[in-house]
Formats: sequence, C-alpha cells, structure tokens
Amino acid sequence: MIGVFDSGFGGLTVLKEFLRVLPSYDYTYLGDNARAPYGDKSDEAIYQYTRAAVDFLFKAGCELVIIACHTASAKALRRIQQEFLLKNHQGKRVLGVVVPMVEEAVQLSRGHRLGIIGTNATIDSGVYKKEVEKLRGDLEIFHQACPLLVPMVEAGWLDKPETKMILKKYLRPLKVKEIDTLILGCTHYPLLIKDISRIMGKNVKIVNPAEAAAEKLADYLKRHKEIEKKLMKNGKVIFYTTDNPAKFKELGQRFLGKNIDGVEKVIL
Ligand code: DGL
Repeated sequence: MIGVFDSGFGGLTVLKEFLRVLPSYDYTYLGDNARAPYGDKSDEAIYQYTRAAVDFLFKAGCELVIIACHTASAKALRRIQQEFLLKNHQGKRVLGVVVPMVEEAVQLSRGHRLGIIGTNATIDSGVYKKEVEKLRGDLEIFHQACPLLVPMVEAGWLDKPETKMILKKYLRPLKVKEIDTLILGCTHYPLLIKDISRIMGKNVKIVNPAEAAAEKLADYLKRHKEIEKKLMKNGKVIFYTTDNPAKFKELGQRFLGKNIDGVEKVIL
C-alpha cells in the first residue's frame, strides 16, 4: 500500500492526482484533522505529529508514505528520514512534496524569478529556497506566506469576492517582483488555481503541487522496482481521520472530487 498523509483534508488534492495517474495501486489516506492546521504550529509539534502519523501508516501495512502536506514536508521530513525511519522502519520509504515541486519549477522557469506561496510554517522553513539553490543557483526567489487561504478554502469560500480580494493582496508583492513561475506550496491552493492564474497573468507559470507530486511518484516507482513490487494493486482506497469521520467524508469529497465511502477514526 501507498500511504498518503496530510494534516487534514488538503492532501486529498494530492491523492486525487495519484488516483488519476496511478489508479491501480492501493492507498491508505490519513488526515490528522484533530490537530490541523499545522501551518502555525511549532517545529517540534509538527515533527511529533508527523512522526506519529507515519508510524501509524507503516503499522497499517504501507511500504511507502507520501507526506502530502507541505508544512509537514518542510518541517519534519528530513528528521523523519534521518532519525526515525532508520531506527524504526528500515527498508520503508517516506517522501515529501517539496522536492517534486522544486524540480518542476526549476525546469519551467525561464525568467529566473521564482515565487513561492505557502503557510507561515512552510515559508518560515526556507526549505524551498534551499532545495532550489541545490539545483540552480541562478534563480531569484520570492516568498509570500498566505495564512488566510487554508481556512477560506475549508469554509468553501472559493468563489467569494472576499477570497479574490485577499488573494490579490497576497499575490501583489510577487507580481511587483515580476516572477515568471509560481509554486503553490500548500495542499489547499489547487482549489484556487483559476483565480491565482488570472491574478498572476498568462506570463506566469503555475506549479500545481498535486500534479507535480503524482508525476514524480510515477517516476519514482519506475526507478525503484524493489519498492514498487511490494505494493498491492487492487485499486483500493482506505481513509482514516483523527477527528469526526462524518465531517471528513462531507468536506473531503470536495477536495477529492469524488465520493468517499467509509472513513474510520483513529487516535494517534
Ligand atoms: N496541509 C497544509 C500544507 O500543505 C495546509 C493545512 C495546514 O496548515 O495544516 O501546508
């Protein structure tokens, strides 16, 4: 099984793309809704929560876990790979969403000016800048934290004029910097992609995190046959949440774009 972890609902945008690009695999999704949002939590809290979630997914039978949450990828992934995995789940793999996004953005950028939007924690981590610099030293990077977007998306405020107004306010500094490529560094932002594209204009390329993660996962599975051959392929999807299953089902369907049949509650 492939485990997909997120702080809550947002990772369902990533699972949606996995199901489109790699439909034959079995997936287990875990949303830590009881403790979301992670975007304003401390480094230590994000690490402890993510570690517990990854541990749960491995114990549930996953061979590979994708941390679909940008905040958790930015703040906890390295430590999980370097400290936790080696001691506790040797031979298993954990991947995040930051590197796939960066690889995609670096390929797309022609104007050498890259913008990144995300939660406070993701922007504070500086991880996108670090990863971009590993691949290309000639890019200028501009950040913008957009903390109001996650609650607005979860409230279903996708087409409200207030949302467009707040988006314009967040994106204006990046427009002024004349970026040519924009990384949507948060699980929730693909739901706002049309308005973001319209505001940024047709000359700015937008990197959709869910699409980039799915393409890179497909590529990873091709290159890592030793992991790929251990994965079940019955097209089955199991959902877990740490909070209210009925609410997860109702809101989750909006992010996943299809019906969610059963959701089980777990305590981490
Ligand atoms: N999943 C988070 C991310 O991609 C957004 C929601 C949260 O703050 O927990 O950064």
